[in-house]
Amino acid sequence: MAATLIDGKAFAAKVRGQVAEHVTRLKEENGITPGLAVVLVGEDPASQVYVRSKGKQTVEVGMNSVEHKLDAETSEADLLAVVEQLNNDPAIHGILVQLPLPGHLDEDLIINSIAPEKDVDGFHISNVGLLGTGQKSMVPCTPLGCLMMLRDHHGSLSGMDAVVIGRSNIVGKPMAQLLLGDSCTVTIAHSRTKDLPDVVRRADIVVAAVGRPEMVPGDWIKEGATVIDVGINRIERDGKNKLVGDVDFASAAERAGAITPVPGGVGPMTIACLLANTVTACCRANNLPEPEGLTA
Ligand code: GUN
Repeated sequence: MAATLIDGKAFAAKVRGQVAEHVTRLKEENGITPGLAVVLVGEDPASQVYVRSKGKQTVEVGMNSVEHKLDAETSEADLLAVVEQLNNDPAIHGILVQLPLPGHLDEDLIINSIAPEKDVDGFHISNVGLLGTGQKSMVPCTPLGCLMMLRDHHGSLSGMDAVVIGRSNIVGKPMAQLLLGDSCTVTIAHSRTKDLPDVVRRADIVVAAVGRPEMVPGDWIKEGATVIDVGINRIERDGKNKLVGDVDFASAAERAGAITPVPGGVGPMTIACLLANTVTACCRANNLPEPEGLTA
């Protein structure tokens, strides 16, 4: 079977279009412009690229973008003061502190200092608890993007067997919660899982989020299953630098019913969902109806 390609690049463009429409409406009807603040500590090159891309896309959908670039030696007290100022700024609806932070800063402490209703990453302990108990929360961007693609492809996910490979707080655990919320039977697999190939072979939906290049071969995939590959791994092959996922795309595409490529699959959805979360946060802050189809 040749799998249908789930085009994350096109889907992300559609989501950004919906966000832009909603932003226009907020401006015209309510005189409100959503604002997203990104805080970057240090000079990690990958983080700088990521933050630049976020800023550009934020402006492209008509929102205000604020960037705080702090040097790598910034103290915890100074960083907490920046977050506090953003928490109290009514023009800022979303706050993102770029991770990883330099080693001397306590990531949990910093993340939990963000006002939960402005935590557009969905990493604050309150949002984790709200998601886990099926209450309205801010949902982490990458799992939200995966859910949107799965819903778009399948309609209802009810009753499907889903396996999430990876148990990170950023992707694996919230992904499992979202799939459970859509009435899937969910297994979270990880590096200690026994008989991983057999566990994956039972799944109608496979979400791979382990960060190990091409670790899921095609013969683990049930015929017709939907494969969402969250991995973005840089490898050397044939003397070339290449981006590959956690799934061996060529062999998995032979068996899957649908599959996301790397690059161009889940990747572009993360920032699109960050913009969606910022609009959602802005609507909630102003007691306005939330955009449809952009939340979990
Ligand atoms: N670093 C890499 N991805 C992310 C993300 O989605 N959010 C934050 N805060 N930091 C990141």
